[in-house]
Amino acid sequence: MKAILLAGGKGTRLRPLTIHTPKPIVPIFDRAFLHYQIDLLKQVPEIDEVILSLNYQPRRIEEIFGDGTGTGVRIRYVVEPAPLGTGGAIRFAAQGITDTLVVFNGDVMSSVDVQRVVDLHRERGAKATIVLTPVANPAAYGLVETGPDGSVRRFLEKPTPDQITCDTINAGIYILEPDTFDRIPKDVAYSIERGYFPSLVERGETFVAYIDRGYWIDIGTPEKYVQVHRDMFDGRFIGGTFAGADRSTPIVAPEARVEDGARLEAPCFVDNGAQVKAGAVIGAYSVIGRGVVVEEDAHVSGSIIWPNTRIGQHATVDSAILARNCHIGRHCVVRADAVLGDKTVLTDYSKT
Ligand code: GDD
Ligand code: MG
Repeated sequence: MKAILLAGGKGTRLRPLTIHTPKPIVPIFDRAFLHYQIDLLKQVPEIDEVILSLNYQPRRIEEIFGDGTGTGVRIRYVVEPAPLGTGGAIRFAAQGITDTLVVFNGDVMSSVDVQRVVDLHRERGAKATIVLTPVANPAAYGLVETGPDGSVRRFLEKPTPDQITCDTINAGIYILEPDTFDRIPKDVAYSIERGYFPSLVERGETFVAYIDRGYWIDIGTPEKYVQVHRDMFDGRFIGGTFAGADRSTPIVAPEARVEDGARLEAPCFVDNGAQVKAGAVIGAYSVIGRGVVVEEDAHVSGSIIWPNTRIGQHATVDSAILARNCHIGRHCVVRADAVLGDKTVLTDYSKT
């Protein structure tokens, strides 16, 4: 069985982070995001190949995953000539595949048991099975109404407030039968959410819902991107390299250098090659990336700092996201919710 990860979007809502780092590989702690999806897929032993459906900056993604050696599953890349939308991308990537497919939106983090979803799909002889998750406000998602038999009764992408009739939304995880893909028009942009799913309902085909109440988040905005780190710090989602670590004390990678006189407040994470100098404070919910230097008396709290950024002496960074290779001068103040792109340079004493 094969899986397709839709990872071709531009990640506009995560700009400027995604200018040089496409959304599927933004770091979550010390790993590119798609690693977490691959971990989830590996729970289904039948899956022997993961197809990454790409469009935006495909090279950068291929550089990280190669042919999959190191992830434990074979990886293949399909690059659309132009963005084909979620439906067009699936059809394009599924050429020549006749077997049942697992499809993920390439920006959702979930603890769903994919094997159980596959099993339900087969038991029901479904054409499509979709994972749903309850959220407080469905407006930013695909609203999905289900019937008493657990099938999908209505699919409405990005509902307006007066169209919201329930709290279950499309979690972006599907099991699909490729013999239905002939209805997806070829070579033009086509949305699976606005076209294909409503068409299954209209035609009365077996379209099954799997409601999952476990962890779920779409990492597509800076708020959600920060939230996923908080959730992992707090143990609401368990995965990745320090899944088993004690989060009640700071997590410091073996090759990080924390000088005497630096203070680390749990939970926080300092990656290999990072340096935290004397007098610096790393406050709770901070992630200090590989090779980051936090100079003397600098103060970082609740912030995600990507690799190779330097934070100058006496600078303060609070609840911000700083991308790679930034240079924050001495005594700078980077305020809450700031999102700085790669190579941002702040002159000494700057305030954001
Ligand atoms: N290959 C390819 N080509 N991938 C694409 C394209 C494309 O043209 N357009 C979008 N994608 C990928 C994105 O990279 C992302 O991983 C996924 O498809 C979904 O696109 P988003 O742009 O993130 O959509 P959304 O978050 O607004 O809504 C979708 O996800 C929600 C759950 O997070 C919809 O599927 C909603 O129904 C769903 O509730
Ligand atoms: Mg999304």
